[in-house]
Amino acid sequence: MNKTGFIGYGSMGGMLINGFLMSGVLGSEETVVSNRTMAKIENLAQEWKEITLTTDNRKVARESDLLFICVRPLDVLPVLREIKGDLANSTHLVSIAGCVTINDIESIFPGQVSKVIPSITSEVREGIALVCHNRKVTRDRIEYLEKFLGAISRVVHVKENDFEVAADFTSCAPGMIAAIFDCFVKAGLRHSEIESDTAQRLIVSTLFGTAKLMTEKGIGFSELIGRVATKGGITEEGVKVLNNHLPSCFDEVFLKTLSKHDLVKEMIKNQRIMVS
Ligand SMILES: NC(=O)c1ccc[n+]([C@@H]2O[C@H](COP(=O)([O-])OP(=O)(O)OC[C@H]3O[C@@H](n4cnc5c(N)ncnc54)[C@H](OP(=O)(O)O)[C@@H]3O)[C@@H](O)[C@H]2O)c1
Repeated sequence: MNKTGFIGYGSMGGMLINGFLMSGVLGSEETVVSNRTMAKIENLAQEWKEITLTTDNRKVARESDLLFICVRPLDVLPVLREIKGDLANSTHLVSIAGCVTINDIESIFPGQVSKVIPSITSEVREGIALVCHNRKVTRDRIEYLEKFLGAISRVVHVKENDFEVAADFTSCAPGMIAAIFDCFVKAGLRHSEIESDTAQRLIVSTLFGTAKLMTEKGIGFSELIGRVATKGGITEEGVKVLNNHLPSCFDEVFLKTLSKHDLVKEMIKNQRIMVS
């Protein structure tokens, strides 16, 4: 007991574990990690000598008082059923799977449950971790969990019902931002002789500067557009095109992502029905 456990060492599990260890908020001697494929976690032992690594999820459940479930949404309930008998009443369970509701988790483990949606940007200690808790999570446990998340991100509380749209803005957005600006760059390349690498560097640096400017100066989107897209100028022409096409495009983005959430939720509901 008194360890922090992680089940699943994929893209997100790996980011959280390495982020917590590297920031110093978590010691390797108090960390226990399981993954289905042992080969994937073995390299952790080279860097973190005292870490406990295993393929035995039940061992992780027995030894952890804070336990992060970092498997894919459809694997969450099967893993919870597997470890259910090894969880203590006082265990604090944290799921990072968007489509798995707190209610789904409580149907198997009726104790302290939090839901967290991290973002890949926490790999460089930036971005947001969305958080909500069930009523059973004590103030101490909330503070303890937020100490971890706060070491690699900014913690933002969101109502569970708003998680899906909020997750589009935080954890899906890095992928969507990359897709948007990839199109911007490719269009620019069709109209110039700029090298692709150079174009990408120009955009990424500008994105970074834009985010910094807006954050440090407290500037909102409309104000920034007004300052750059001056009346009768070049930028205004581009902004007009974007305003014509993007609203319907982003409506479609939400339509698709939200219906995918619904589909996975339905599959998880069926997993519950099949077992009960
Ligand atoms: N990727 C993101 O940006 C992001 C953002 C926010 C939230 N999330 C959420 O984070 C969760 C993990 O996503 P991911 O992108 O990290 O997925 P991933 O890269 O596929 O990682 C999943 C990991 O879980 C392991 N696993 C699967 N079943 C297991 C079991 N029964 N016992 C132990 N380990 C098991 C897999 O092991 P193997 O090595 O054997 O495959 C794999 O390492 C998902 O629920 C996702 O919704 C992801």
